[in-house]
Amino acid sequence: MTLPSELKDRLSLPLIGSPMFIISQPDLVIAQCRGGIVGAFPSLNARPSGQFEAWLQRLGEELGDADAPFAVNLIVHRTNKRLEEDLALCVRYRVPVVITSLGAQERVNEAVHSYGGIVLHDVISNAFARKAIAKGADGLVAVAAGAGGHAGTLSPFALVQEIRQWFDGPLALSGAIATGRAIAAARMMGADLGYMGSPFIATREANADAAYKQMIVDGRAEDIVYSDVFTGVHGNYLRPSIVAAGLDPDALPEAKDMDFAALAGEGTKAWRDIWGAGQGIGAIDAVQPAADFITRLISDYRAAVEDFRP
Ligand SMILES: Cc1cc2nc3c(=O)[nH]c(=O)nc-3n(C[C@H](O)[C@H](O)[C@H](O)COP(=O)(O)O)c2cc1C
Repeated sequence: MTLPSELKDRLSLPLIGSPMFIISQPDLVIAQCRGGIVGAFPSLNARPSGQFEAWLQRLGEELGDADAPFAVNLIVHRTNKRLEEDLALCVRYRVPVVITSLGAQERVNEAVHSYGGIVLHDVISNAFARKAIAKGADGLVAVAAGAGGHAGTLSPFALVQEIRQWFDGPLALSGAIATGRAIAAARMMGADLGYMGSPFIATREANADAAYKQMIVDGRAEDIVYSDVFTGVHGNYLRPSIVAAGLDPDALPEAKDMDFAALAGEGTKAWRDIWGAGQGIGAIDAVQPAADFITRLISDYRAAVEDFRP
């Protein structure tokens, strides 16, 4: 593994429970870190902004050296008015891992490095990967086709092999990874870590509606719709949630024509009513405590690794 030892040595499984808008909150992050995987959440999930500091305090109090480190996702974009404030709190509370998305920035990386933190930048292409490393990110999250949320379109094989031709630092792979065997496959392909989101929506600790959790359990890859209509950026969503919002998933308008309020009636919102998920959810068969799910992932991962021994 090319992971720094302070990260590698504290994991029971090479996995990051990825940050998910609305869904990832301290209960889930704590369960993930106690289970031995990196738990992550977007700082913007803590609202109002003062809540972010309270969450960091709680994580500091409830997680110890025996647990995996946690990560905060910062949206590095000019429309994120909280970036400066949230970055300053990451520095003050020495957040171990910061996952940046949408636009790598040197000064953000420098701020995290000032206290010894690690920055992983989220990318959907090799070109963005090169830019992120040139700007000082320590590692990358390669978001391949089939990922929940704002997904890429490249095959994970293509993306990982191109990045590995020039980059030997920390690399996580995202997109439809839902089993321990798939985490092992990501490592065989050349990634250091799997990066898994949607399966954790169907855990007891996830901040999601019960119907959303059940839709993850019932859904399969064919229930996932890839569209840029809802946020202006292409992402993967659950078809039944689009239908429940009164829309036809097979006749969605072009994003440029989008007026979501006019289209769907007042109050319908991307993420709140249109539910994101990746193509890997066919592996999920129950809503369960995150700890139980992680235990299963660990035994499945170990069995897969054993299978590959000569
Ligand atoms: C509902 C949902 C919300 C998400 N929100 C974010 C987010 O706020 N920030 C981010 O970096 N990634 C976000 N993602 C993407 C995940 O971090 C990750 O790339 C993805 O879930 C991995 O694919 P998988 O869902 O197939 O495991 C989101 C994904 C989902 C399903």
